[in-house]
Order: sequence, then structure tokens, then C-alpha cells
Amino acid sequence: MIVPVTRNVTFQLRPGGRLGGRLRVPGDKSISHRSVMLGALAEGETLVDGFLEGADALATLRAFRDMGVSVDGPKGGRLRIHGVGLHGLAAPPAPLDLGNSGTSMRLLCGLLAGQTFDSVLSGDASLSRRPMRRVTEPLSAMGAVIETGPEGTAPLTIRGGQPLHGIDYALPVASAQVKSSLLLAGLYAAGETRVTEPAPTRDHTERMLAGFGYPVARTGATVALRGGGRLSGHAIDVPADISSAAFFLVGASIAPGSDVLLEHVGVNPTRTGVLDILRRMGADIELVDPRESGGEPVADIRVRAAALKGIDIPPELVPLAIDEFPAVFVAAAAARGRTVLNGAGELRVKESDRIGVMAEGLRRLGGRAEPTADGMIIDGGGISGGSVEAHGDHRVAMAFAMAALAANEPVTVRDCANVDTSFPGFAEMAAGCGLRIEIAEPRR
Ligand code: S3P
Repeated sequence: MIVPVTRNVTFQLRPGGRLGGRLRVPGDKSISHRSVMLGALAEGETLVDGFLEGADALATLRAFRDMGVSVDGPKGGRLRIHGVGLHGLAAPPAPLDLGNSGTSMRLLCGLLAGQTFDSVLSGDASLSRRPMRRVTEPLSAMGAVIETGPEGTAPLTIRGGQPLHGIDYALPVASAQVKSSLLLAGLYAAGETRVTEPAPTRDHTERMLAGFGYPVARTGATVALRGGGRLSGHAIDVPADISSAAFFLVGASIAPGSDVLLEHVGVNPTRTGVLDILRRMGADIELVDPRESGGEPVADIRVRAAALKGIDIPPELVPLAIDEFPAVFVAAAAARGRTVLNGAGELRVKESDRIGVMAEGLRRLGGRAEPTADGMIIDGGGISGGSVEAHGDHRVAMAFAMAALAANEPVTVRDCANVDTSFPGFAEMAAGCGLRIEIAEPRR
């Protein structure tokens, strides 16, 4: 059982300043989740380095421990997973509480649909509001039996012992979580499971399956695998998370005099939309020493302050930058001119409604932001300062913290405890490179 985050964390920021230095932000969240899932299902040992010790990935780890998987660590980002094989998981003694983590819930839903035992997945208030039919419906078409709440939300009750069969499924939304959920169920299905995406989404599951020796075929926009294979344990190097680096990319861009080197960042092309968007806005971003590490492209990223301008964000970049829009909105509010985003309705069903919450906060800080059904119109040049709510959303909290660099009055960000889900130590690392941030934990 995860202890709910009840800490009442507020970030207090003095305006201005600049960022400088070399940083290694924590490990990639998507890759960390998958390393535990596939490491647990593999035969033999999987050694993971760079694992994100944040609440979301730890929720996945706890779930597998609850299903009988023995794991040493994490210690200094290192995990040793003693894989049990595809058919070696044990029934968990109680519902699996996945906290704030949508990735854990959606991927586990697919994986657990193929087990012989029943399981129940639950989460915190935010996760319990998020749409789950996007996974339960195609999984049901594969033969899974899953009960949701009346609104298609958690808790999810998954009935074990159901024979699954492969399907040929066209994703209605560009979602790596749905794609991955179906591929994980496909490991247990008779025949071939085929998933076609409307636009490219992060491909860490496919890459990692291949790394574990499991054949995965990609033809155009379709990924396919056949059930009944096996995974072999191996070593995984988790790069730093580009989604966490994004706050420093934006902060350094908008704060004159900044110069930051972000080390060993994952630059998988299905994740680098934020680099393309910021460069179009005029950002000075350089990839240093691009290389490959454990099947994933990695680079150091140097970012220096630059005069940003507003742009129309190309819709094809939306799925490639889906988690970075809170930071991009802050860049747009600090830029000169208008930024327009369309085709990003998915932002409304993330950890918070990131369109509504970011527009509200930017306005409170003196910015000009107009939410639309599936995006936002931001007229730049307007951050002054003030007090905003993060609504328990980690990325909203960190984005607003960076806004202080372009402000001329103090910025207060409330409800920031969930920053620990993806970026434990954010405030300390940011302060160490120049953000004028202090953490206050007032009593409730
Ligand atoms: C993730 C996929 C994305 C992303 C989430 C992590 C993943 O969600 O927003 O933070 O690890 O597969 P969607 O696939 O629902 O867009």
C-alpha cells in the first residue's frame, strides 16, 4: 500500500537569476517502468543502472515485489531484478496501489490480463479520474475480462485465466501507453498482436523487448509481435529523462546569461519534440557527443539563453513532446509574440487538465493565455509574478518554478509534493544551478 502524498509542499521563488553548470537529471521515467516490468518477466538477472527513484517508478517496483519478484535495490539508481519468466508471477495479496502513475496502471493492465490470477489496480485521486477504457476496450477484444468503475476509471479488476488472442488494432489516439499495454498482453496471446498508431509515439517498449531478445516487427506505423516467446535478462542503462531536462532547457533559454550542460539525456526521436519546438522558437540548443547506450540514443545537451519568439506549434510534434507542454507554455509566455497550440486535447487527461491548469496559472502570473478545447493561445512577454496552484501535477509545479526566471516579482507555487513522482530532488538541483527556489512545508 502506497502512503498517499499528504505533504503540503510550496515552492517559493525570488524573481530573476540565471542557470549555469553541468547537471544529470534523474533517470527516464518511461524506461524505468519498463525495465522493471520486462526485467521481472525475463529469465535470469537484469541489472538496471540510472533507475529513477521517483514515486511513480517505485510504484511499479512495489507491484512486482507484491507479485513475488525479488529485486535488490534501488541503491544509487541500481537495481538487480531476479526475473521469474513470463509465467512466474504470483497473485498479489492485496490490490496494487499505483499512486499517481498512469503508466503503471495502463501497462500493468495489459500485462495482468494475461495472468492466471485475478488482480485489482487502484490509484490516487488524480489517477482514479483518468480514462482507462482506452486500454480495457481493446484488451477485452483480445479476450481479457476487466471491470472498471462506472466512468471507465480505476479501480480496475482484472480476471485471470482468460485465454487471449491477438488483434489488429488501430489506436484512436496517439498513445504509447495504450500501444504498450496491448503489446504486453500480446506476449500472452495466441497468434499475432498488431498495433497501428495514428502518429509516432515513444517506442521504448518495442526497443526494450528487442533488447530482451523478443522479436518485434515494425512496418510503417504498425508494430507486431507473436505470443509465446521468452525474454532473457540483460543489463539496462537508463538515460536521464528528457522530460525532466525540459525544465532546464526552458529555464536556461528564458534567463539571460544562462549556460547549462545536461548530461547523458535520452534523445530517442520519439521524445525530442521539445527540442524541435524550442529551436523553432529560437532556442540555442546543441547536442554534444550523440551516442547510443543500451539501445537508446543519448547525448549531452548544451543550452544557452536566447531571445525566444512565439510560433505555431506543428501538430505532428504534439505526441513527440506530450509531457513537455507545461514547460513549453512557460517558454511561450516569456517569448516575444504569439504561440498557438492545437491538436493537444490529450493534455486535458494527464495528471491534471494541463490546458486549464496552465492557462489559469499563467494568467495569475500576469501572462496572456487563452485555453482552447485542444490547445492554447499564448501572447508572450507577460510574466510578472504571483501565486499559482500546481494542482498536485509534478510537471505543472516544475514549469511554474522556472517561470520565476522571467518574472520581476516573487512566484509562489502551491501543491508541489508530487514533484517526487518524476523528479526527486528537483528543488535542490535547480537551486544548485541558480534557480532562486526555497521549499516551504507549512502545516495544513
Ligand atoms: C508514457 C506515455 C505518455 C506520457 C506518459 C508516459 C509512457 O502517455 O504522457 O507520461 O511511458 O508510455 P500517453 O501514451 O497516454 O500519451
